[in-house]
Amino acid sequence: MAANYARAKFHSSDERLREVLDLALPRPGDLALDVATGAGHVALALAPHVRRVYGLDLTPQMLAQAGRLTAERGIKNVEWVLGDALRLPFADATFDLYTVRAAPHHFPDIDAFLHEAFRVLRPGRHAVFVDCAPPAEAREVLHEVEVRRDPSHVRSLTVDEWVENLEHAGFEVGSATERELDWDFEDWMGNMAVAEPLVRELAEVLESASGEARRQLHPERRDGRLWHAYWHCLIRAERPE
Ligand SMILES: C[S@@+](CC[C@H](N)C(=O)[O-])C[C@H]1O[C@@H](n2cnc3c(N)ncnc32)[C@H](O)[C@@H]1O
Repeated sequence: MAANYARAKFHSSDERLREVLDLALPRPGDLALDVATGAGHVALALAPHVRRVYGLDLTPQMLAQAGRLTAERGIKNVEWVLGDALRLPFADATFDLYTVRAAPHHFPDIDAFLHEAFRVLRPGRHAVFVDCAPPAEAREVLHEVEVRRDPSHVRSLTVDEWVENLEHAGFEVGSATERELDWDFEDWMGNMAVAEPLVRELAEVLESASGEARRQLHPERRDGRLWHAYWHCLIRAERPE
């Protein structure tokens, strides 16, 4: 599974990494932290633009993939740390930049995760949050698909819920947008090596959506492959001085 993430289309795409860099605006002197780094794509994209970057993840197999990619690319200013986003092993006000992508929907306690993000950031510095963020009606349908595809899924937040939670944690939200992508269902299932009978059941869940959720998801077959909408939030927030 970890190897799938090392080459996953969404996670390794230059365009998707560019949008994180455009939000993060890394500076050469920055000490950066990428939380739930997985195979390390975001941390490795930040590395050439910062002094040093730590990539933290709960799963050793993911960090092994990250280490492999680091060696392949000859990158020297990255360190991989085993740890939990909800209990970061770093002192207060350590980092100039905090990023997390495609992971908070796995976290069991959003308050604890945001408290930790705020705590380890230096005042006046920024954090970037990119995660799945469907509109509320589509979320109800996607939730069933997400949990059965990957039981570690907990809940996706809408962009409005993100802003509310971030402000509650003390952040000042500079920008928060929702971005819709045309999503390749089979490719998404492939990242988690979902067995074929379950792939068919989950396709049925999406294709039988009705009402506003269906309008939002607009599932359709193209040459037999299922495509539907999928959403992410793109957020830049500051720990105020
Ligand atoms: C879909 S991958 C995202 C990878 C990476 N952020 C990216 O965008 O390429 C989700 C990652 O979250 C990690 N994860 C889940 N819960 C975590 C937690 N509480 N603390 C740290 N990492 C966690 C998983 O081990 C997995 O590597």
